[in-house]
Amino acid sequence: MKLHVVSHPLVDDVLSSLRDARTPSTEFRRLAHRVSLLVTAEATRDLPTAPGEIETPLETTAVRRLSRRVVAVPVLRAGLGMLDAFLELVPSAQVGYFGLERNEQTAVARRYYEKVPKDLEDAVVYLLDPMLATGGSAAMAIEGLQDLGACHVRLLCVVAAPEGVAWLETAAPEAEVYTAALDRELNHRKYILPGLGDFGDRLFGT
Ligand code: PRP
Ligand code: URA
Repeated sequence: MKLHVVSHPLVDDVLSSLRDARTPSTEFRRLAHRVSLLVTAEATRDLPTAPGEIETPLETTAVRRLSRRVVAVPVLRAGLGMLDAFLELVPSAQVGYFGLERNEQTAVARRYYEKVPKDLEDAVVYLLDPMLATGGSAAMAIEGLQDLGACHVRLLCVVAAPEGVAWLETAAPEAEVYTAALDRELNHRKYILPGLGDFGDRLFGT
């Protein structure tokens, strides 16, 4: 499994505010959007384009447009905080949804909703989930996408834990992971350290 940790001064800057416990939800949403733009830009760097031609106000010129089907699949709830940024950069993407929820005691994920485009063989599928902790949720979502034919799955995260990366190396070796930060470890409740807390709660003010 390929792991890409996005290295950029703007990523460092936005992470400093996202991690800050004093950042209120209104601001957290804007920051989640900002970091998602940066991760999306990195994770789409190698998408193929095809040549075309357009008329500028002055003359005809050669252009290139995205030529690959792209599907974005945010994991409810927290992944919703990354979707607008993704669509801002890839407006032609189709969108599907997985609803996954970790049990608060066991940290084991349960799937409660699925609405994803079928026949994903020809698509690059971007799974949007800001937190990769144990890796259980991501592994479950990637397996669901592979069952729908997906061969090219990229997980976009904001913060990843080494434990989750190690789990995906076994559970989903063909997937690629793009993350703004690779943190130190999980605590006894399977929260990422230093992390930023519960992303969904901070995003939605719950
Ligand atoms: C969070 C996060 C991931 C999951 C990561 O979701 O958005 O989906 O935990 O943890 P894991 O790697 O240990 O599976 P959560 O279950 O808290 O649901 P929410 O997005 O609705 O808050
Ligand atoms: N989910 C979160 O939102 N935060 C963590 O630290 C771990 C899982």
